[in-house]
Amino acid sequence: MTDSSNVQIMRAIAAFFEQMTGQNLSESRMWRVETALRDVMRQHGLKDLSDLLYALQADHSDQIAAATIHCITNHESSFFRDLKVFEMVEKQLLPHLNATLPEKLLRIWCVGCSTGQEVYSLAIILKRQEELWKNWRVSVIGTDISPFSITKAQEGLYQQMDVQRGLPIADLLRWFEPVQDRWRIAPDLRAITSFRVDNILEPRAVSGKFDLILCRNVLLYFTPELRGRALTSIARHARTDTQLVLGAGETTIGANTLFSPSSEFRGAYQQAVTPVSQVMDRLAS
Ligand SMILES: C[S@@+](CC[C@H](N)C(=O)[O-])C[C@H]1O[C@@H](n2cnc3c(N)ncnc32)[C@H](O)[C@@H]1O
Repeated sequence: MTDSSNVQIMRAIAAFFEQMTGQNLSESRMWRVETALRDVMRQHGLKDLSDLLYALQADHSDQIAAATIHCITNHESSFFRDLKVFEMVEKQLLPHLNATLPEKLLRIWCVGCSTGQEVYSLAIILKRQEELWKNWRVSVIGTDISPFSITKAQEGLYQQMDVQRGLPIADLLRWFEPVQDRWRIAPDLRAITSFRVDNILEPRAVSGKFDLILCRNVLLYFTPELRGRALTSIARHARTDTQLVLGAGETTIGANTLFSPSSEFRGAYQQAVTPVSQVMDRLAS
């Protein structure tokens, strides 16, 4: 295969990736993932990139597509990643929701939850605040486009180096049990968490409204148009008082006007209150 046809095939794979996930793959990143794509090709008996492209075009929903998306996507995550955000959630946002929600029902959604650390960090906070949430129904659902990440999140089994990154030792000993050389999350955390494979560009796995939504370090590589589409999907599951937390360096500004920075909570966003949003809120409650 000539170099120029190789470039064209990689561009077509990048276009497939953008269409499926919303993420824009820059030329430099495109060549960095080529080695990872070779693993996918080997595992599925494909001889070169053009075979891979052909397989992707033939079936967007099969295992090869899922493996390709997984190997190109960044899945970096850790417990209590960006501690300041979790401190704000623990000390301000959750007590606020506890004091203002009309029913004893708290629903949290983590969009792009990767291998589960973000979801379990929130579950640990809720358990630390056990008194506050006594007699409440609380749940944290995590969704991610990668079935491989979701399987790992559901397993809730982490390597020593995963639990050493950001997880306080007291929480490790309280909420995990050692299993050979790994750590498994406790049943109490499992009971309030769940995970589903879902694409934020067309979410199907979640229903109803959430009180707190995290979508951190997911929209970073999205084109502005697709970031707008993802925020529209999120807005469908938010009320006007729902707080949306994005990653450091991510913003809704320029993507769409549905969310704007919260005046109360640093780093959080809220939907604008309009006559239409008020009616939608009333219909949802
Ligand atoms: C860098 S990780 C962030 C994990 C976690 N939110 C955190 O901040 O630690 C980004 C995750 O977003 C997921 N993702 C990318 N595009 C997505 C999409 N269109 N829908 C749902 N998840 C997506 C990836 O599979 C990946 O696991």
